[in-house]
Amino acid sequence: MPITLPPMTRRQMLQAAAALAGSAALPALARARQDGDARPDPHRVALFSDTHIDLNPATTAGRDNINMTDYLNRCIEQAMADRPPAHTMFCGDVAYLIGKTEDYDQFLALVIRLLEAGVPVHCVLGNHDNYDNFFDAGIAQRPEAPPVAGKHVGVVRTERANWLLLDSLIETDTVYGQLGEAQQDWLVRTLDGLDDKPVLVMVHHNFDWIQRDGSDWGLRDAGPMFETLSQRQNVKAVFYGHSHDWKHSRRDDGLYLVNLPPTAYVFAPGKPNGWVDCRLAEDAATLTLHCIDPRHEQHGEEVELAYR
Ligand SMILES: [Fe+2]
Repeated sequence: MPITLPPMTRRQMLQAAAALAGSAALPALARARQDGDARPDPHRVALFSDTHIDLNPATTAGRDNINMTDYLNRCIEQAMADRPPAHTMFCGDVAYLIGKTEDYDQFLALVIRLLEAGVPVHCVLGNHDNYDNFFDAGIAQRPEAPPVAGKHVGVVRTERANWLLLDSLIETDTVYGQLGEAQQDWLVRTLDGLDDKPVLVMVHHNFDWIQRDGSDWGLRDAGPMFETLSQRQNVKAVFYGHSHDWKHSRRDDGLYLVNLPPTAYVFAPGKPNGWVDCRLAEDAATLTLHCIDPRHEQHGEEVELAYR
């Protein structure tokens, strides 16, 4: 029997859904369509970063004057083209510049079809986001007692990995990032309390972004974070955004570093924008880059993260 929701504004509906789920993320709204090929693949997670969604869907920006709303739409379409992923994760800079509540309303208008297909939406915050407006817009339920005061952190448990979502936003529009001591402590406690499934970490800021004038645009307390992660063998990879620059590498300790591409504009000419399909096995994750422009030479590039 079909269930008819009473008329509600989209924000009310999402807030109600988030409250019901008691979740730190936007939960899926409907389960009715989850049969056969429409059922999300439990071992696939779609990774997006730097969406920079403005309240005005017509806004364009960046070196190529791209339309961010259109680009995110295309990425979501690609991600949902076959069987949907089990989860979607957005690696910060959800909003265009200063994290207005209306920017997040527009973001919700774009991701609603993920929720309707039963795919939860998880976001970490970036330097262009605003903690209060993010919650006011109903993108996640504001926790009564946040695990770290003023920070949006959490664990997403999937069948084959625990995803740890960190918050490196200091203050909206401050370009560099920091976890802070309380979050570093939470990270240690949380990792030590998890089962021994592989752990994949997501944080907005990168770790090595020094400008010509010597200023550091990256994560200022990456040192202690990596000390914590490196010592725990079940941690396998760190995904980040911020520099709008798809690249990947492996540290000497075996941890993978994956800089996700933006769905929005790139900073350097010729770089790809798009999203990354992450397929999880027991002992590895396989990443596939999907470019907005399928003619881009890196479109379809696969990266195998064989776990340490
Ligand atoms: Fe960004």
